[in-house]
Amino acid sequence: MCVRVAGGVPGVERHPITATMVMKGPVETMSAGGVSQKSENEQLVSVLMVGDVCGRSGRKCLKRFLPGLRERLNLDCIVVNGENASGGIGITGKVADEIFASGVDVITSGNHIWRYREIISTLESTTRLIRPQNYPPGTPGHGFTVFPTASGVRIGVMNLLGRIFMDPVDCPFRAADQILERAELGRAADMWLVDFHAEATSEKAAMASHLNGRVSAVVGTHTHVPTADHRILSNGTGFMTDLGMTGCIDSVIGMTVESVLPTMTTRMPNRFQTADGEGSLSGVRLTVEVKTGRCREIQPVRCGPWLEEAGIR
Ligand SMILES: [Fe+2]
Ligand SMILES: [Fe+2]
Repeated sequence: MCVRVAGGVPGVERHPITATMVMKGPVETMSAGGVSQKSENEQLVSVLMVGDVCGRSGRKCLKRFLPGLRERLNLDCIVVNGENASGGIGITGKVADEIFASGVDVITSGNHIWRYREIISTLESTTRLIRPQNYPPGTPGHGFTVFPTASGVRIGVMNLLGRIFMDPVDCPFRAADQILERAELGRAADMWLVDFHAEATSEKAAMASHLNGRVSAVVGTHTHVPTADHRILSNGTGFMTDLGMTGCIDSVIGMTVESVLPTMTTRMPNRFQTADGEGSLSGVRLTVEVKTGRCREIQPVRCGPWLEEAGIR
């Protein structure tokens, strides 16, 4: 289901809170330049955010699907979570380059970012690969970046890490506040997208409420299973609890069944193997009004086997 602020989907009742967000104008028509221009006041950008890319299978997915999705969805910016891109855990500089070459503009990450120590030099040499902002001061790398689109729209992307059922880190809520205090919406960036890498659905929902109206979107990553709760909150922030995984879904969240089951059934430690079968891409497409930073449309995007396809027709 695609959730729009104005209009709606036949047969689907709009949420009363969402319905209070009245936007003017007809259904948007994308221009060839990638930015929709309905009137002087309504410039829109189209963004794809993709869930955790897992191993070679996930990277193949990006190569296979992103060129077509960029064209078909008229994307101005593609953001993917790459924390599992190298062998299922972590990411190397070489793999980051491979992902960028697939057409990705910004890579976010999460708790597995430090798996390969060599990534530190990449984190320090590029602003397009970011790590969670709420690691303690002195941690290498950057927790947010501003990506300029071809048409000059400044898309801010921030990465935060949850604290419930995860290793201790600084407060993600205050970290987000501090970024926005330094770079208010509309000043340093025309819009902000938040990848909240967290385990607990409650913490993700709380973050979305905390940032409602101050950022364009809050999307969750880390749990590798797409949720069906994509929606636009009362003050114009798009939200989805988890984007899902990009990789071999026929697995235990990216690891082979054969390598995970012995540990689950006996509690004996075992080395997990990354599943290498045909992969699926899972994420969300967001349409954001540049003038206000408000999310106008949020739509799940899924392609490949195992999951029902969405958002590509
Ligand atoms: Fe992950
Ligand atoms: Fe993670």
